[in-house]
Amino acid sequence: MAVVALVALAACTDDYSPYSSLSPRSSAAEDIHGVYKLVFWMALVVFIGVQFAIAYVALRYRRRSEDETRPPQIHGNKTLEIVWTIIPAIVLLVIFIPTVSIMYEHADDAEEGAYVVEVYGKQWWWEVHYPYMGAPGEDGVNTSLVTANEVVVPVGQDIQIKLYSNNVIHSFYVPQLIGKMDVVPGHENLLSFTVTEAGRYFGECAEFCGDSHAWMRFQVVALEQAAFDSWVAAQNAGPTTASTTYGTDDQGLVTFPEEFGICIACHRVNGTPAQFSPIGIDEEPGTLDEPGSARTSGPNLGLFACRSTIGAGILPNTVEDLKAWLRDPGSIKPGNYMATAIKPGTLTEEQIEVIANFLFSLEPEGGCDSVQPGPGSENYDAASVGLGD
Ligand code: CUA
Repeated sequence: MAVVALVALAACTDDYSPYSSLSPRSSAAEDIHGVYKLVFWMALVVFIGVQFAIAYVALRYRRRSEDETRPPQIHGNKTLEIVWTIIPAIVLLVIFIPTVSIMYEHADDAEEGAYVVEVYGKQWWWEVHYPYMGAPGEDGVNTSLVTANEVVVPVGQDIQIKLYSNNVIHSFYVPQLIGKMDVVPGHENLLSFTVTEAGRYFGECAEFCGDSHAWMRFQVVALEQAAFDSWVAAQNAGPTTASTTYGTDDQGLVTFPEEFGICIACHRVNGTPAQFSPIGIDEEPGTLDEPGSARTSGPNLGLFACRSTIGAGILPNTVEDLKAWLRDPGSIKPGNYMATAIKPGTLTEEQIEVIANFLFSLEPEGGCDSVQPGPGSENYDAASVGLGD
């Protein structure tokens, strides 16, 4: 049994376990892992103690002869009762105190994270806002930089995640970085953590929230500070490849092909005039039967070519997968709102080709490699974004 347990547990320490809290990559996840280890070792001590006690009693008091006399029959023993009430109480206390103190510590930390990222749970994807990091608005104050399904953060910074929803309850869960936190309509929930190592960390919605709950994935992409800063600059500068291919309007924004016109009611694209669809939670969410604009709006497609996945983490972002998505999004992600407008045959193959080419031209100056490894980079493989087979 010990050998089997060792082999089984050895797998848990594998470095590549992206959906496991056993390979923590943030300060907060380390704390949680510490409590987990405490519980594990205490449980192991109890387990071994009980097994030895069973073996000892079975051997020591076994029937040794043909002697038919019954041993003394004991009913109740106050000392024993007290001992086996006190021991578990102490065990529970030893687990309870550090668990609760870490919960309170994390709740306090979450109040004052330095680097604010707002995450909005949508059905069934995530909108990500970086307050005051976008281009200056008409009043001269910087707007929020908005993106979707990839929460890009700098390594080593104290990140504060503010969670919002205006539809149903979701739950933000990145096992390697932090414990679960519900995303509740009408309420601001906070999380904070400091990522210790650059990389991609996989997240899932962890609260049943409708048809495609199981497909509501996301990633936290942790970049070194310099790479993060250039990612922000690239998002704000807009897509340069697209501007050479499709030209720009009198404000310097990329003009998109006519075929893309059907997309802009729901999708915004940073650096282009596609800026109509509602963002955040202020717009009317409507109901499931009669969705309002905030419910039907879709992910921001800024620098789309550099995204690692499409459909909120369910397909690798390749031209072929994108085309399949554009042909029939409803068959890939049941219940999604895009499928109410785009059914098989809605877009012709020619239109799909034009839209796919346009989206894959949304690259920053210097290509995607200059900001973050994505499908545009040579080393891109689906396994690296958690979609390998
Ligand atoms: Cu959102 Cu489950």
